[in-house]
Amino acid sequence: MQTGLRILRILAILVIAGSLPAQGQDRPDAAAVERGRIALTQRGHLKKAWNREAYDRAGGQWGTTHPDPKTDPSGYQTAFNQRYGLHPAPYPNDGLPMGLRAGMNGGIQIDCMVCHGGSIGGKSYVGLGNSTLDLRTFFDDVSRADGQPAPLSPFTLTTTRGTVNAGQIAAFLLSLRNADFSRRRFPLPLGADLPELDTPAWWHLKRKKTMYYDGRTPQSSVRTNMQFIMGEKSLDELKELESTFSDIRAYLLSLTPPKYPFPIDSAKAERGQKVFLANCKSCHGTYGPDGKYPSKIVALEEIGTDPARAKGLSDGLIAHYNATWFGDHDKANPKMVGYQASPLDGIWATAPYFHNGSVPTIWGVLKSSDRPSVYRRPSSTGFEHYDQTKVGWKVEVLTKTPDISKMPGHEARYIFDASRVGLGNQGHTFGDELTDAERMDLIEYLKTL
Ligand code: HEC
Ligand code: HEC
Repeated sequence: MQTGLRILRILAILVIAGSLPAQGQDRPDAAAVERGRIALTQRGHLKKAWNREAYDRAGGQWGTTHPDPKTDPSGYQTAFNQRYGLHPAPYPNDGLPMGLRAGMNGGIQIDCMVCHGGSIGGKSYVGLGNSTLDLRTFFDDVSRADGQPAPLSPFTLTTTRGTVNAGQIAAFLLSLRNADFSRRRFPLPLGADLPELDTPAWWHLKRKKTMYYDGRTPQSSVRTNMQFIMGEKSLDELKELESTFSDIRAYLLSLTPPKYPFPIDSAKAERGQKVFLANCKSCHGTYGPDGKYPSKIVALEEIGTDPARAKGLSDGLIAHYNATWFGDHDKANPKMVGYQASPLDGIWATAPYFHNGSVPTIWGVLKSSDRPSVYRRPSSTGFEHYDQTKVGWKVEVLTKTPDISKMPGHEARYIFDASRVGLGNQGHTFGDELTDAERMDLIEYLKTL
């Protein structure tokens, strides 16, 4: 159990500094946003997970030659990022990639951006879900490089680059607390069984009334964003950090998506807008200055996408969450409905699609018979892998399912297989009746959002 919990401890101590002063109700928004940006991207850690040297030594685990971290730090970081699916930090970060953070006591730690920081076309963004992350290989290599055993986890953390089981991590941490937040030696049997997920874009949050893929948590909740740090914290420490997380939430609500960087055919996009208004807006809302977003949660039977995430959130977990400090206000909805139709702002940049990242392009979202089931994900988020026609990632479709048991883990996790638990690519057949021409027009319109 000791080692089994270590991986969770690493995540549990994702750190955001608690040193900012508590704020009053009437603080100016712009100031809160700025405090949140600093708290999220610039503030230090409370506890380290690894010694700093582990970053430099990780290359020793790769079994290949690599640039020397001392004489060619940027070459080394490029190779490091490639191996783990990380991205350069678009803010000062002590020479570390986005998602890693220098610790107060010389060590390193991961932070929110290991999952919530991505890049596209060579540019990094805070809030773009990381679609290339291989957290398993990262934990294994860096721990070994630090002289620690590779951490075990009591559930599957990830089988594919870019998808990660964030929900079960939070569920597990919560199961180790009683309702009054006293610690338990053995987890409560809450029955949650969540699958790995694609990380959603943060810039959608401001349009939503409810959040997470199933839309069961009020978007206004600050505390829900603190679940990852609960493993290390007492209730008093969490309470002290609440105002900092309120600032972080303000910063998340200020984020905007990047603009589509290639030419758009405006006549096509105008035709596509009509197709959109006729077929899509009831769930996905409208866009532009008067845009309205309904925050609609669609029943599982109607949406038909993989049900594992919606069903895996157990009644026991929700009841327990609501009985703790997390649910004191902003309670999670005890009723399971299905999946929330997300806003589509910046949708060009957030492939692969659906909550499980099962569909590489918008074309596939809109034509279910064209979705590949077994494929190799691209090796980077560079534009050489970007498909401007279908909008999303070019993947190498495999006709035969490779025997991943014979492949090294980091190679195996390039393979996406829709037959794995939670990774089904079915459902959302709302574009199937369109003609190919209408679909192309619609995609041109989606590029403008
Ligand atoms: C291990 C990867 C990972 C880490 C680390 C992580 N998240 Fe997330 N986050 C996710 C995933 C995956 C989801 C979708 C969960 C779901 O809906 O079930 C998510 C959802 C969210 C959402 C809701 C977005 C929406 O529109 O519904 C917010 C807000 C959020 N995370 C904030 C944070 C903050 C703040 C941190 C750091 C304290 C953090 N996350 C750390 C992976 C991660
Ligand atoms: C009945 C409601 C409904 C209709 C109609 C609908 N969608 Fe969706 N859409 C959803 C839901 C719910 C999801 C999330 C499914 C999931 O992740 O499992 C989704 C997901 C998507 C996604 C992927 C989002 C992402 O970030 O991964 C795209 C793109 C999309 N829809 C586009 C469209 C377009 C274009 C149309 C019109 C042809 C349309 N949808 C019609 C409900 C709907």
